[in-house]
Amino acid sequence: MDKFRIKGGKALRGTVAISGAKNSALPVMAAALLTAEKVTLHNIPKVRDLITMSKLLAFMHANVSVTEFPSSHYVIEAPKLNHAEAPYELVKTMRASVLTLGPLMARVGMARVSLPGGCAIGARPVDLHLKALEQMGAEIGTSHGYIEARALKGRLKGAHIVFEKITVTGTENILMAAALADGETVLENAAREPEVTDLVVMLRKMGAQIEGDGTPTLRIRGVEKLHGTEHTVIPDRIEAGTFLVAGAITAGDLTITHCAPEHLGAVRAKLEQAGAHVEIVNETTMRVRGAKKLVGADVATEEYPGFATDMQAQFMALATQAEGTSVITEKIFENRFLHASEMIRMGANISIDGHTAVVHGPAQLSGTTVQASDLRASAGLVLAGLVANGEMLIERVYHIDRGYERIVEKLRGVGADIERVHGA
Ligand code: UD1
Repeated sequence: MDKFRIKGGKALRGTVAISGAKNSALPVMAAALLTAEKVTLHNIPKVRDLITMSKLLAFMHANVSVTEFPSSHYVIEAPKLNHAEAPYELVKTMRASVLTLGPLMARVGMARVSLPGGCAIGARPVDLHLKALEQMGAEIGTSHGYIEARALKGRLKGAHIVFEKITVTGTENILMAAALADGETVLENAAREPEVTDLVVMLRKMGAQIEGDGTPTLRIRGVEKLHGTEHTVIPDRIEAGTFLVAGAITAGDLTITHCAPEHLGAVRAKLEQAGAHVEIVNETTMRVRGAKKLVGADVATEEYPGFATDMQAQFMALATQAEGTSVITEKIFENRFLHASEMIRMGANISIDGHTAVVHGPAQLSGTTVQASDLRASAGLVLAGLVANGEMLIERVYHIDRGYERIVEKLRGVGADIERVHGA
C-alpha cells in the first residue's frame, strides 16, 4: 500500500489547476446508461472512483473508452444493457455505485445493486432512494446482500416525492429515474449542490424535461427516449477548497485556476473569517494569501450552499493553527471526526463531544505516522502534515487516490515537500 511522506514547514507559492469534479463525473457517467446513443464527457478527473464507475458500466455491457489527451475524456455507449447489475466487488469500494440504480430502473425497468459492504440499509442508508422509487411504482426487495428492484409493467411512473432529508445522490438517482418515467415527477426537499445542477444540465442536453434546478423543488416530465450528448463536467469545488486551505495554512500565496469561485462562497467566507485573504481574480481563478496570524472561526457543515461536510477535515487542520477556539459542528454525517484523533496524536488540542469538535490553537504539530480513514480525512491529514515539524508518514492513501487527481504532483508544483512512497 502506498504512503505519503511529508516534511512540513514550506509556504506554498505558485499556481494550481483544478480538475473536474469527481462528484459530478460519477452521476453524469451513470446518466450515460439512459441512452443507447453515444455520450462524450470531458474534464473527467483521473481518480480511482471514476475507474471504478467505468468498470461498473463495462460490467453492464456498456462500452467505455478513455482518451487522456489533450484532456481526459470518456466516450460511453450503452446500446444494450443486458446485465443490469452492480456487483459487490465494485460497490464495496465505492458507495456511489448506487447511482446506477436510477438509470437502470429508467432504461430497463429492473436493477440488482449490491448493498455497500458491512452496512444494512438502516445503518448506512439508501432508504430514501428506495422509498422514492417505490413511490414511482418499483417493487423493491433485498436478497443475498443485493437490492432487487423491478418496475411494475416495466416502466416507472411519475410521483410526488418529498425527501425527509436532503440527499445528494438520492436526488440524482430520482432525477435520472424520472427522466424516462411515465408522467410528471415532483421532487421536494431536493439537494441544490452544483453537481446536481450539472447533472440536470447534461440530462436536458439529452432531451430531458426538467425545471427547478438550484431550488429545493425539481419538476421532471418523463420522456420516451433520451439521446446522446457531449458534456464538460464542472470544476471540483472540494479540490479547490482544499488548495485554498493549503495556501492559508502554510501562510503561502496560491493562485487556483480552472475553478468555479461561485461554488466556493461558504469556504471563502470562513477562510476570510480565519484571517486569510481570498480574492476572486476572474470567473475561473482565485488567489489565497495566508495571514501572519490565523484566528479561530466556528464552522457548521450544511447542505449547499452551506459549508460542505467534505471540507470539514481540511478546516479542522486549519483550526489547529488558528489562535483561539474554533467550534466545528458536523451536521451531515455521523462519525466523521476520525481525522481528529490522528491530529491529536500530532499534538493538536481537540476535544470531541458527539457532533461537535472544539479546537484550541495554535498548536505546534509534529510529524508522525498516521492513518487515512476516508477520502476527505486524508486531505485534512495532508494539510496538517504541511505545517508539522519533522517528517510525517500517511498510510492508506488509497483513500485520497479515490478523489484527488495527482495531489502529490500538484502540491510539489507549488513547493510542498511531499512524496509518494510505493509500498508492498
Ligand atoms: C454525497 C457526496 C459526498 C458528500 C455528501 C454530502 C457524491 C458521490 N457524494 O454523498 O461526497 O459528503 O453528498 O454532501 O456526490 N441519508 C439517509 N437516507 C438516504 C440517503 C442519505 O438517511 O437514503 C442521510 C445520510 O446518512 C447522511 C445525509 O442523509 O446523513 C446526507 O447524505 P447524502 O447527501 O445522501 O450523501 P451522498 O449522496 O451519499
